[in-house]
Amino acid sequence: MLKGKNILLGISASIAAYKAAFLVRLFIKEGANVKVVITDAAKEFVTPLTLATLSKNPVLSEFIENPDEGTWTNHVELGLWADYMIIAPATANTLAKMANGVCDNLLLATYLSAKCPVFVAPAMDLDMYKHGSTKDSLAKLEDFGNLVVPAGSGELASGLEGEGRMAEPEEIVSFLESYVRAKSPLLGKNVLINAGPTYEKIDDVRFIGNFSSGKMGIAIADAAFELGANVHLVLGPSNLKPLHSEIKLTPVVSASDMLEACGKGFENVDYAILSAAVADYTPITKAEGKIKKKTEELSIDLTKTQDILQTLGSLKKDNQTLVGFALETENEEEYAKGKLHKKNADFIVLNSLQDKGAGFGTDTNKVSIFSRKGNRVDSELLSKMEIAQLIWKTITTTND
Ligand code: CTP
Repeated sequence: MLKGKNILLGISASIAAYKAAFLVRLFIKEGANVKVVITDAAKEFVTPLTLATLSKNPVLSEFIENPDEGTWTNHVELGLWADYMIIAPATANTLAKMANGVCDNLLLATYLSAKCPVFVAPAMDLDMYKHGSTKDSLAKLEDFGNLVVPAGSGELASGLEGEGRMAEPEEIVSFLESYVRAKSPLLGKNVLINAGPTYEKIDDVRFIGNFSSGKMGIAIADAAFELGANVHLVLGPSNLKPLHSEIKLTPVVSASDMLEACGKGFENVDYAILSAAVADYTPITKAEGKIKKKTEELSIDLTKTQDILQTLGSLKKDNQTLVGFALETENEEEYAKGKLHKKNADFIVLNSLQDKGAGFGTDTNKVSIFSRKGNRVDSELLSKMEIAQLIWKTITTTND
């Protein structure tokens, strides 16, 4: 969910600053880009070298980084870079300064420049936490729209017991993720995805299939789940599985199984993305047992399968969004747009087999997304998860 997001971590001087190193690691593990801005006093608790190594970025704390060269840290740029700013630990001192517009270090200047959601995770001794001035600071910050990650209770560095412990790094990450999910346009929406190949049986041991791995569709399902949707994934034969076990998974084999599974309950679906490489033809008759090698030549008569996208397109109501994929090798845009209209989809995601690193089995993809009204979004070569996030962003924000 935080993959590709820019997270600016502000660290102020509390013993809990050592936990900031774990927090950086968790964000990096989630695939976020992390920059750290630290107060001078906080460097006594955790070294910039540790944080720079974990975050893979230089740690910032001075307005003027290189006095000899006259280079300075642009706190405005830093504030604008961030998708989320998290100040953890946030001391009573830093909270009070934030609440009052005091700007005597880089962390505070960056805070004042940040346009993104700002989270604070207070950390202090219990009497400081209980003090009216701290309560005032937190209330004021909440008034500004900042979010407070509640401090926990327990043994404090002073030896006292009570409230004031900084939330654990895992709790801070899940607080942020819940916030992101709650803001998502997919929150509580019913989403249907199909993915993978289909196998059309020739006899009891052979089939007609294709090289689809299901990776792209599975990433779309995982991304939808992370954005708060109720996800149903109809998956053709594939060795892969979604990351999230909460996704409803219906394994299918043939195009007709897939049609049946996708059609069931379609009236309650808000978004359907049909990424499966469905067989266009299936044998007219499936032989019993194994076809024996008797003749020099063998022909198998095939008949067209029912088009799932087109079928759902004919059933679709105005409040439902239907997205198809188009895999093309020539006249890509024209063919993709043709499918969009013919199958009554709202968007079509064009995959070109001509792009290196895109298509079946790879971990990356490069797509163009066309909307019914002619909007077009082109991606770079990105991981399939990033493409999945881009698809969701495009279809939930394009105003057609
Ligand atoms: N599709 C489907 N049912 C089928 C065939 C395709 O739902 N029986 C869907 C695919 O899942 C995809 C879209 O239709 O979302 C386009 O698939 P594609 O293979 O690119 O095109 P086809 O319509 O099969 O046409 P062609 O093979 O001639 O390019």
